[in-house]
Amino acid sequence: MSSRIELRDVEVEIGGEIIIPRVSLKLEGPGLVTVIGPNGSGKTTLFRTIMGLIKPVRGRVLVNGRDVTGNPETAGRHIGYVPQLSAFNSEFPITARELVESSLSLRLKPPRLRTPPEIRRAAAEALEAVGASDYADKPISRLSGGQLQRVLIARALVWDPPILLLDEPVSAIDPAGKMEVIELIAKLSTRKLVVVASHDPGVYARHSKLIVVVNRGVRLAGPPSEVLDPRKLAEVYGDSVILVEKCVHLVDSHAA
Ligand SMILES: Nc1ncnc2c1ncn2[C@@H]1O[C@H](COP(=O)(O)OP(=O)(O)O)[C@@H](O)[C@H]1O
Ligand SMILES: [Mg+2]
Repeated sequence: MSSRIELRDVEVEIGGEIIIPRVSLKLEGPGLVTVIGPNGSGKTTLFRTIMGLIKPVRGRVLVNGRDVTGNPETAGRHIGYVPQLSAFNSEFPITARELVESSLSLRLKPPRLRTPPEIRRAAAEALEAVGASDYADKPISRLSGGQLQRVLIARALVWDPPILLLDEPVSAIDPAGKMEVIELIAKLSTRKLVVVASHDPGVYARHSKLIVVVNRGVRLAGPPSEVLDPRKLAEVYGDSVILVEKCVHLVDSHAA
């Protein structure tokens, strides 16, 4: 199952402002790739561009060799996308199970799973895989941040896409739930290309094969040992020194 994302000279403008200036990047799975950068640095814009939801003013986006530039339908055949939680309306009156099932019943192409029993079984398996079986029949409005995040991951992986894009998947979760979701993400990345966005540099460091540091473009990219250098990060993060110190602390404690 191939899992490859390629950006060729991609430039994105929003409201006349260049948010991504001429970025070229190749990501290949399986493995965990972490995109870090301060708030407003363009992580979500990058993900939405990969998903074909934003059309760049120049350049191409290829997913598994297919041109998906500005084409969410084609991108959505290869990638399971979990948007930032703040973008999700959790007041919608639906249970966790229904939400995951709807991801399959709405998926017309490819028609791999069609019958209601097949859909029910696949949804139950995905909820089980993320450890959400216990609250599968609760309305999503009654779930905690961590529970909802798991259910949204289940919805993205229920059709077994080779690639997952997860935008700040643990930002809204309490510390205990956070560690569990990070472990889940690490596990998924053994089989898939999982690209995760985080404003906090340290969170996924231990599990990442590649860290891409963005701030209006790609500023650094490499293995965690190279990229998580406090001096280099301070240049990108500027005033957000607390994040950099926390990151260094995490890296030190892992080395110890
Ligand atoms: N729909 C939009 N309208 C106007 N500005 C936007 C929009 N989306 C993103 N931006 C701007 O693009 C920049 C990058 O935002 P974003 O990609 O959300 O950053 P991040 O995810 O790293 O916090 C921000 O300055 C933001 O204000
Ligand atoms: Mg964002």
